[in-house]
Amino acid sequence: MTSSDLPLARRSDVAPGTTRRVQRDGEAILLCNVDGTFYAIEDECTHDGGELDQGELEGCKIMCPRHGAYFDVTTGAALTMPAVLPVRTFAVRLDGDDIYLA
Ligand code: FES
Repeated sequence: MTSSDLPLARRSDVAPGTTRRVQRDGEAILLCNVDGTFYAIEDECTHDGGELDQGELEGCKIMCPRHGAYFDVTTGAALTMPAVLPVRTFAVRLDGDDIYLA
């Protein structure tokens, strides 16, 4: 069994409109529930390493609490300065109440 065989979290752990930081193979991943659809991005701002789980999810956007850059959690795109590079995204799959990396 590899770590990808283990669920990241349960769906019930990440309510709509909220996020949850999880660790996988030493990397911080942010699970985001956008109106019932789950997305996963790296939990590290591409501007200067801010932890995005400390920001509020606003629809499909999340704001880095350090300097205010917004990212689209569905694509990873940096939407506003000072961030210009996207965050990595990860495909997820659901199996019952469990969320896995796809
Ligand atoms: S570290 Fe995120 S906007 Fe600067």
